Amino acid sequence: MEMTQEPVVRMRDVSKRIGGKTLIDRLTLDIPRGQVYGFLGPNGAGKTTTIRMMVGLMSITEGDIQIEGASIKDRFEEAISHVGAIVENPEMYKFLTGYQNLLHYARMSPGVTKQRIWEAVERVGMQNRIHDKVKTYSLGMRQRLGVAQAILHRPKLLVLDEPTNGLDPQGIRELRDYLRVLAREEGTTVFVSSHLLSEMELMCDTVAVIQQGRLVDVKSLHPEAGEGRERETAFEVSDPQRAAELIAGGRLEDGRLIVSADRQAAAGINAKLVMAGIDVYVIQTVTRSLEDQFLELTGGKDIE
Ligand SMILES: Nc1ncnc2c1ncn2[C@@H]1O[C@H](COP(=O)(O)OP(=O)(O)OP(=O)(O)O)[C@@H](O)[C@H]1O
Ligand SMILES: [Mg+2]
Repeated sequence: MEMTQEPVVRMRDVSKRIGGKTLIDRLTLDIPRGQVYGFLGPNGAGKTTTIRMMVGLMSITEGDIQIEGASIKDRFEEAISHVGAIVENPEMYKFLTGYQNLLHYARMSPGVTKQRIWEAVERVGMQNRIHDKVKTYSLGMRQRLGVAQAILHRPKLLVLDEPTNGLDPQGIRELRDYLRVLAREEGTTVFVSSHLLSEMELMCDTVAVIQQGRLVDVKSLHPEAGEGRERETAFEVSDPQRAAELIAGGRLEDGRLIVSADRQAAAGINAKLVMAGIDVYVIQTVTRSLEDQFLELTGGKDIE
């Protein structure tokens, strides 16, 4: 993966106002290359609005969005040439086969060969069903076909608005797998929105959290970097009140002292507590899942 390069998407102070209502409020975001990047927020947060602006379906009131360095405002054709997207339900001809649908779209995109069509079919694992009529497809298959169509022209950026909607756990798992393959094999950067935390945690390298049109957080979820989960240490002590006063940055939770600390720092805190005459009964590492952090940020509103 080419993580050190320029971001594929740069959003700068993007606002959207309609009829005096601010739907998106100064959103600034970089989407790094090769990632599966999540856009997480409760219903009505502004995910679809942002995506519609990204793909040119809606004008930007203020600010700018650049895709591969090209502004969606000033160099629309160039910017959009790098994008494949499913925003609303993909339009498919239900009485044609999946393959015939792809052929049809390929004719409209210069440079898409039959070989590339097959490659796209393979990427989404539709080899066995591609010659069946679309009307016989399940929701998950229709979506795969939509993704195959969206990636035909090898876009640098694939944008999917709530792709897990309506999928069963197996379908979600398969979606995750082929999005990851796409990011890895073709270097496609994937931007995917959802209001479901658990799914974002499974799918994404990074998650940006949006609420009421504002960016409230960006979290890296690389497991190897150990991020995404904040490491905290809980101390069960004889005098929690005094312990909290003694340890900078400490707070009390359920009668325990909670400090953001790694192993080394925890040992130091333990020593400090003991020196102050406070008995330490239990030292425990606590990790807050992305879900906990998200609930904290959003006050637990509208989360499934
Ligand atoms: N054309 C419009 N005119 C006025 N308000 C709009 C318009 N489109 C969206 N909104 C409002 O903007 C806010 C954000 O809507 P948006 O559809 O972007 O949210 P979302 O995060 O995609 O939500 P969901 O999870 O339900 O899809 C909502 O309050 C919505 O009612
Ligand atoms: Mg939406």
